[in-house]
Amino acid sequence: MTKHLVARANLTVLIMLIAVLALVGGATWNQIDMARSARLWTQRANDVLLTIKDLNIALRDAETGQRGYLLTGRDTYLSPYNSSIAHVTRLAGKLQRLANDDSIERDSIAALDPILQKKLEELAQTIVLRRTVGLDAALTAVNTDAGRNYTVAIVAILDKMTQHENIVLAQHQQTADTRAIRVRWLVISGIVLAAIALVWAARMLNRAWSNAYVLEAQQRQVASQLRASLDSLTQGVGVFSPSRQLVNWNACFQSLLKLPKALVRNGTSYTTLVDYLAESEGEFLETEAQLRLSRPKRNESIVYSRHCSDGSQVEIRRSPMPDGGFILTLTDMTKRAQAEAVLRESQKMQAIGQLTGGIAHDFNNLLTVVLGNLELVNSKLANAPDLQKKIERASWAARRGATLTAQLLAFARKQPLSPKPIDLATALPDLVPLLTRTLGEHIDIRYVERAGLWPAMADAAQLENAVLNLALNARDAMPDGGRLTIETANVVLDEEYARLHSEVTPGDYTMVAVSDTGHGMRPEIVSRVFEPFYTTKAEGKGTGLGLAMVFGFVKQSGGHVKIYSEVDAGTTVRLYLPRSIEEAQATSTQSIEPVVMPSSAATILVVEDEAAVREVTIAILKDFGFKVISAADGEEGLRLLGTHIGEIDLLLTDVMLPGELRGRDLAQRVAALRPDVPVLYMSGYTENSIVHHGRLDDGVNLIGKPFSRDNLIRRIVGILQDSASTSATNDEPSGGNVVSLKSWPG
Ligand SMILES: Nc1ncnc2c1ncn2[C@@H]1O[C@H](COP(=O)(O)OP(=O)(O)OP(=O)(O)O)[C@@H](O)[C@H]1O
Ligand SMILES: [Mg+2]
Repeated sequence: MTKHLVARANLTVLIMLIAVLALVGGATWNQIDMARSARLWTQRANDVLLTIKDLNIALRDAETGQRGYLLTGRDTYLSPYNSSIAHVTRLAGKLQRLANDDSIERDSIAALDPILQKKLEELAQTIVLRRTVGLDAALTAVNTDAGRNYTVAIVAILDKMTQHENIVLAQHQQTADTRAIRVRWLVISGIVLAAIALVWAARMLNRAWSNAYVLEAQQRQVASQLRASLDSLTQGVGVFSPSRQLVNWNACFQSLLKLPKALVRNGTSYTTLVDYLAESEGEFLETEAQLRLSRPKRNESIVYSRHCSDGSQVEIRRSPMPDGGFILTLTDMTKRAQAEAVLRESQKMQAIGQLTGGIAHDFNNLLTVVLGNLELVNSKLANAPDLQKKIERASWAARRGATLTAQLLAFARKQPLSPKPIDLATALPDLVPLLTRTLGEHIDIRYVERAGLWPAMADAAQLENAVLNLALNARDAMPDGGRLTIETANVVLDEEYARLHSEVTPGDYTMVAVSDTGHGMRPEIVSRVFEPFYTTKAEGKGTGLGLAMVFGFVKQSGGHVKIYSEVDAGTTVRLYLPRSIEEAQATSTQSIEPVVMPSSAATILVVEDEAAVREVTIAILKDFGFKVISAADGEEGLRLLGTHIGEIDLLLTDVMLPGELRGRDLAQRVAALRPDVPVLYMSGYTENSIVHHGRLDDGVNLIGKPFSRDNLIRRIVGILQDSASTSATNDEPSGGNVVSLKSWPG
């Protein structure tokens, strides 16, 4: 646009210049021509007029000479006549020559000539008459007035010629004036046009200039925006010219390459940077030879990454530019690599969790069958103590398997938890006697008291388990004795901490730290301790599930666990449990009381899809004198309820039933028909309808598989007793559907 305007302005000025020059040249030429012609015409007219005047004078002189002679008769008076006569003839000739180019003058001269001749003849005649005849004869001739008439006619012709010449002269002058005026106007118009054109050209130049100014301002703005963008990047950018000299860069370019300021300036050669970095970092940037060998195509880049001596990691990208130069883009990959490692670790743990959770579920069903049958057989072998011993051993192994499965479920974050507000300031000191007994004399246990501790939200039994696991690990790390310290603190984990640790929600936490003065761990061990089955202990000494359980439990409770360890110095494991907004309730110490069996048999509807589990459950229940109705799925259970509607006192159902009716649906249908029938769920796996976010729904009774005979009976009797006392407080039955329960003693 600007270029176009400037070109147009240039062309206009050029055309105007040529036009004005042509105009001025033409006008000047015309003026010169006119002046020359005017000068010639004026000269000619003056000559003609002068000749006419001279002719007049010469004629008068000739007449004067003639008169003088006629009066005196003396020849001396004839001298003017004599000199004038020749003069008259000469002047007449001259006049003819001068005025020959004018037809009117030519006519006048043609008329003048004969009269002039006659006049001259008349003069000569009178002079001859005076000389030869005498004065009178001469006067007679004069008095004829012929001479005078000739003179009058000559003067009239000469006057006419004079007049004509004056007119011609005036005409020429007028023409010259007119032409001069025209030329003047022409010049004025030319000047005005030139001025307009110049103004127009100036306007165009002005526009071009302001366009250029705006463009320049825009370019300056774009340049400053680019500069700011470049400097705001967290990537380092260095631009190299085709001759491989640094021409542009940002602050990160210098900081990521850790280059001295003096080296980062316009014109620094690429080789200088390569050599400088080679000294401190070894082979870092591509060498000149490598640059020559690998020339990426347009829109392609060469990417490579380097580990710096300070442990950071940089990705370097070389992208070609159309002019033959290239751009180096440096990205700090340290944080991303760390974040990826954290993510990978958490994904790995989740994957292992899912796998182990699935295995644990199936395993629990099998263990239920094994344990149940062993216990049944055991109860029948009162007379064979040897066999009973063997059965006991098999039961012990099965229970051990159940503990492992429970730990696996804990790691998989799939154990049913009943989180409640816990006051750690009382719960932890309560544990100390148990720990002292378990860990042995050689370990000095210290509990550091702390005032104003926030209540924590967690499952108290599982927390005890976790602390016990940590204490056992500490004991194993201190075979020659040492100190175990249990501390607590209120901790606020902020956004920054949460950003650096996956699965951490910022907020208030109550922290329990278990520290030992044992042999500690190397970092590569620390990075793996939460994996299930990871153990450094000798075969048979450790399962590698202790910390996995702790990890799963804390995560399932919405907390966070962190481990710090120094080889030969000791280890600290910190459990961060979410702060409870409610205050902790005083915990009632659970005492295992003997089960009081009902005096008359209650009827239990057992719904379980696994035949072996169903059979052993039925056998246990029957062994304790309960009446049992059993079903393999929800639909069958519902049918049986219909046929035995008044008989059933308790529904014992698996949570995960095949078919449309799951355990919970079945319980709801039973509640609709018989609201007084309590429900006990069985489950080997908790990711289902009665456990939400790792917590049992309120009012839900659940027994985890595998269960022991005693546990099952204790739960059933407990539920039946609760149910009986509830219905006893409800004075009267409320409707026809309600069937009064048999009385349960105790
Ligand atoms: N306090 C500690 N000091 C040193 N090493 C520890 C400590 N706690 C755990 N470890 C290391 O972590 C590994 C895993 O611990 P974890 O509790 O998960 O399994 P384990 O103790 O080996 O087996 P288990 O707990 O089933 O008996 C241990 O084998 C041990 O190497
Ligand atoms: Mg352990």
